[in-house]
Amino acid sequence: MKLPTRVQIVDVGPRDGLQNEKQPVPAEIKIGLVQRLQEAGLKEIEVTSFVSPKWVPQMADNAEVMRGIRRLPGVRYSALAPNMKGLEAALAAPREQWPDEIVVFGAASEAFSQKNINCSIAESIERFAPVAEAARARGIAVRGAMSCTVGCPYEGDIAPEKVGYLAKLMKDIGVQRVDVADTIGVGTPLKVQRAIEATLAHYGIDGISGHFHDTYGQAIANTLAALELGVWNFQSSVAGLGGCPYAKGATGNVATEDVVYMLHGMGIDTGIDLDKLIDAGVYISDALGRKTGSRVATAVLNKR
Ligand code: HMG
Ligand code: MG
Repeated sequence: MKLPTRVQIVDVGPRDGLQNEKQPVPAEIKIGLVQRLQEAGLKEIEVTSFVSPKWVPQMADNAEVMRGIRRLPGVRYSALAPNMKGLEAALAAPREQWPDEIVVFGAASEAFSQKNINCSIAESIERFAPVAEAARARGIAVRGAMSCTVGCPYEGDIAPEKVGYLAKLMKDIGVQRVDVADTIGVGTPLKVQRAIEATLAHYGIDGISGHFHDTYGQAIANTLAALELGVWNFQSSVAGLGGCPYAKGATGNVATEDVVYMLHGMGIDTGIDLDKLIDAGVYISDALGRKTGSRVATAVLNKR
């Protein structure tokens, strides 16, 4: 088994983590979270999303958050933009406030595509195509999230062929890298490997990241399964924050602290300072008035 020696993590806590919060989270807290994540050594942070505030009111402060973050050189700041309206909103700010990367998000399941973005998979690709083109023309990178690559809350098991189909469509419209997402955290290691292998037919290993929610407690095992295939890009949420408003009952992403602990324990470099990362998790958990969802942070905090 040849594992990667280095892993790059996108912390998606400020976006995936906070998009599902019942209580409003002030922009200044989100900005504070981004600050702490970058101080902990994160080189990629998913900051917000430019989606309809009627659908996801938690992200309505997108422009304010993009304006408020204090950027560090060498850090990539991304934001979701599912259509031209979203991209235009992101670009309405001065250039230095633009995202470095925008994320279009489609699904391997038709039913989830309808629930999440109100259109079919084919229609979603038609909407993403001009977004990808316009972003790239401005030097903004384009990532594609692929939801429900192993299971869907409406359709159940998802065949790897459907993942391959979506990956091909993403590739055709110029999406540079894709996330193999287990949106509802039902995947198990071999199923996740099949979804990644289907994606590998269209993207090289450097263009694939793992995005695993931890609803059934499988996300760390699924991360290891992806590593075994050579995947070295992952998305996770500090303190295990999150969930998707259109995937009822699905919990947050795997906690970044737990992924980092595992990787460091395996001698894999992340560039992240685990103690500072735990502090970032304490900051946001305190702001939300609840305990961290990270097992590693809980263990470390019990000893502090
Ligand atoms: P729609 O209603 O089909 O779009 O929504 P529309 O073009 O018909 O527009 C309807 C209204 O929304 C109009 O306003 C538009 O102006 C407005 P009105 O005339 O009614 O006042 N609108 C927008 N406003 C702001 N920003 C925009 C925008 N677009 C339209 N970009 C749409 C389609 C995609 C916009 C909608 O369904 C939506 O916003 N959905 C939100 C989906 C979402 O954010 N889901 C969570 C993120 S995905 C996720 O968590 C999964 C991921 O983590 C990976 C994984 O785990 O699987 C990435
Ligand atoms: Mg997600």
